[in-house]
Amino acid sequence: MKSRIQQEALVYHRVADRIEGLITAGTFRPGDRLPSVRSLSRDWRVSVTTAVGAYSLLEDRGFVEPRSRSGYYVRARRLSPERLPRQIEVEGDPVEVGCAEITEKIMDASATPGIVPFGAAVPADEILPSARLALLYSSVVRSAGAMAHQYSMPPGLQGLRVELAKRLLGSGITVSPEEIIATSGAIDAVLLAVKSVCEAGDVVAVESPTYFGILSMVRELGLKVVEIPVFADRGVCTRALEEAFTTHPVKACILQPNYHNPVGSVMPDVEKKRAVALAKRHGVTLIEDDLYGDLHFSEKRPLSLKAFDPGDTVIHCGSYSKSLAPGLRVGWIVPGKRHHRIKSLKYATSLANATASEMVVAEFLKSGGVERHLRKVRRIYARQTHEIREAILGSFPAGIRVTQPEGGFLLWCQMPDGFDAEAFALAALKRKISVVPGTLFSASCGLRNFFRISCGFPLDDRSRRAIGILAKLAEGQ
Ligand SMILES: Cc1ncc(COP(=O)(O)O)c(C=O)c1O
Repeated sequence: MKSRIQQEALVYHRVADRIEGLITAGTFRPGDRLPSVRSLSRDWRVSVTTAVGAYSLLEDRGFVEPRSRSGYYVRARRLSPERLPRQIEVEGDPVEVGCAEITEKIMDASATPGIVPFGAAVPADEILPSARLALLYSSVVRSAGAMAHQYSMPPGLQGLRVELAKRLLGSGITVSPEEIIATSGAIDAVLLAVKSVCEAGDVVAVESPTYFGILSMVRELGLKVVEIPVFADRGVCTRALEEAFTTHPVKACILQPNYHNPVGSVMPDVEKKRAVALAKRHGVTLIEDDLYGDLHFSEKRPLSLKAFDPGDTVIHCGSYSKSLAPGLRVGWIVPGKRHHRIKSLKYATSLANATASEMVVAEFLKSGGVERHLRKVRRIYARQTHEIREAILGSFPAGIRVTQPEGGFLLWCQMPDGFDAEAFALAALKRKISVVPGTLFSASCGLRNFFRISCGFPLDDRSRRAIGILAKLAEGQ
């Protein structure tokens, strides 16, 4: 005879299996909200305890996650390691950044209307909060009058910096509005940070792969780079960081700790702490680019590197380009002791920011609208990333490996050795599809068998057909 507790356990295992079946079959997808405990109990005629037990079991199995006061949601499933891209070898010594030619061609194509934009790391038009932004623009312009069309001089509007200071608390950063300088997007912030620390000929450590905008910037500034590998499951390799800091005269190190472009990785807190401690010990400035951190699929935002820095080792940079809209050009920097230097560099390089944009973002933040928008887009990106990933795995040759990010909207794909992603990207362009080849993300022009796919837009008939075409092109190689 089974005890009542054993019987109860059997029932909730059965309920959990049934829900797991629905998730596996795609009825509920990553990011979807599952039926509440009460409605599950009512509709499936089980006790509330059983429903809670079933969800706890699914949480242990890694299928669902609870969100406070909001219920249970489907998690992106953890990947078996054999489908994740493998770690690559990098050049150990400082190199000059190469590979400029194809970058412009790929970038121009990504922005061309009529192209299926797997190459563009931007939210689809339909995802942008356009209606809300239009209302905010007209109301701030009406109430501020001509002021809205004047320069916003460094450090940027006080109202924006007050809201930014409140929001940064969620990344683990406690600063006053006076410690923030508003910038024209994250790239402006990273440029100011690099210029405040380095001069031409200096060595900086960059991740491999890393966002090609960072590589272009470093090349234009005449800096040399040491490449540090990035792992899909834990971000930058801190052991390689230590070796680079010990062996080379590294001045600064540019890291993307959260939902890395293109790898999608997040550094666990212990690794963040370790990177900050290493940098401090070796007198290296860490420049963190954290513009994807708000796009987490699970409930909690990962902390920034700056959260682990009580001193002046980390310069924190971010923007609303990926989480609200790239055209706003609203970003920020927390420069610490380099405040004065960075403010004067801002005057010297771009003078000021767009006042109306800063007013709009300040109002959007103040009203709570940004958080509402983020709650919506996180679900959309979790779904799109999952669906596009499944479509790629289902149609590309079996040797493909694809990341499974838990935030952001980028997939990093690895084909077997010998695959030429530049030829693949150029052939795709002829078919009106953009993808970004791995070489653009490598200072030493490696990563030839990798490419990046953006999931900023949905998997519809057109993009599904495009994946079929890409798969055929890949097979042709
Ligand atoms: C890692 C990273 N940093 C910076 C940028 C540029 O950001 P912003 O538009 O805020 O200047 C991008 C854009 O793709 C990016 O991916």
